[in-house]
Amino acid sequence: MTQFSQPLDLRDRCHAAATTVIMMAKLTQGSLPETRVTTKQRGEWQTTSDSARRTEALGAALGALLAPGDVICLSGALGAGKTVFSRGIGAGWGATVPLTSPTYNLAHEHERPADKARLYHLDCYRLGGAREAELLGVHEILEDYVIVIFEWPERVLDILPDEHLWIDFSLREDDGRDLRFSAIGARHLTGLNELRRALG
Ligand SMILES: Nc1ncnc2c1ncn2[C@@H]1O[C@H](COP(=O)(O)OP(=O)(O)OP(=O)(O)O)[C@@H](O)[C@H]1O
Ligand SMILES: [Mg+2]
Repeated sequence: MTQFSQPLDLRDRCHAAATTVIMMAKLTQGSLPETRVTTKQRGEWQTTSDSARRTEALGAALGALLAPGDVICLSGALGAGKTVFSRGIGAGWGATVPLTSPTYNLAHEHERPADKARLYHLDCYRLGGAREAELLGVHEILEDYVIVIFEWPERVLDILPDEHLWIDFSLREDDGRDLRFSAIGARHLTGLNELRRALG
């Protein structure tokens, strides 16, 4: 696992041209006319978790389905369960090192031995906004062909790709958690439907 406490170097740009075109298209979708933006496929789903273990298992079920280019946004108050869920994602995806909170480092890079795929786990809590995220290299990460998990995505809304899976965590009175999933774009909608099927 690589930890970044300094501005990130530009990521390797040697991926296939087709990949770059796809990612650039995603990143420019924010400037499309509203009529086209609203045609994006969307889906929602809600579930509850009565324990950290259950939240981690939900994350693991999602992690097993993730593919390069997926963007997962985890929103919710301090202690809501975003990192617990991320730990599950990492385990389900097959990260070499367990995911831990990147609060102080901003970003952790993880690799999967099976295929050398990479996953970035970002915590944007301390970021002042999109400009700071840009300076720290978040754009370069998003241009790369990787999976990206954002904790505190609301801090950097302006730089998020239009297409993503947003999960909102809220604390219940009984100490459980409500998880509200919103998929935007065809690939994340497909992923959400697969997750629902996997969870039965
Ligand atoms: N149902 C639950 N789901 C997730 N975590 C739970 C649950 N019940 C209790 N917890 C506890 O709540 C805490 C959640 O911590 P976690 O670090 O995941 O929060 P976070 O949302 O990442 O917070 P932060 O914004 O500070 O990064 C853990 O201590 C966990 O054991
Ligand atoms: Mg956290």
